[in-house]
Amino acid sequence: TALLAAALVLGYLLGSIPFGLILTRVAGLGDVRAIGSGNIGATNVLRTGRKGLAAATLLGDALKGTAAVLIAGRFGVPDAALAAGLGAFLGHLFPVWLGFKGGKGVATFIGVLLGLAPVAVLAFAAIWLGLAVLLRYSSASALAASAATPLVLWGLGQGRVALLFVILALLLWWKHTPNIRRLMDGTEGRIGQKG
Ligand code: G3P
Repeated sequence: TALLAAALVLGYLLGSIPFGLILTRVAGLGDVRAIGSGNIGATNVLRTGRKGLAAATLLGDALKGTAAVLIAGRFGVPDAALAAGLGAFLGHLFPVWLGFKGGKGVATFIGVLLGLAPVAVLAFAAIWLGLAVLLRYSSASALAASAATPLVLWGLGQGRVALLFVILALLLWWKHTPNIRRLMDGTEGRIGQKG
């Protein structure tokens, strides 16, 4: 259990690195939390008009989750990778450095999934892209793809990973409460719409 706790903490520390905030600051764009939805994620970074920075945010916020899982996977303890993935997701959502006000978890969800069950990322990407092309809502696409992920994992026979992703999907949906409200009101911003 000491190693499981270490995996959780390692994941948390990696997950709490807010790439969107850091990259937009370094690029001299000020605080990304002052624009659009106020979120620190790639969707909101895209609202600055800087596609490269948004892509880098998506990549950084995803790969920190993948890295946490892969590093803890070498601890030699069953479930260390799962603990690190949970830690990374919690770190992204609740970073101590930002007063526990972090992101909504979509990129990190994908990154942890990539580390634990890479095949399932294909299903996530297909659902996300299909809906994003149809509706142009980043949030709605992510909500649907994240809800489908545990089912996909069960289908792949990955029961324990599926259970972890039930928890992650519930947290992701909860963090999207304002988006869900805006989607129902018809006031949610479309992908790429400036904030
Ligand atoms: O990844 C977050 C996305 O689902 C919604 O982002 O900035 O539109 O709230 P945002």
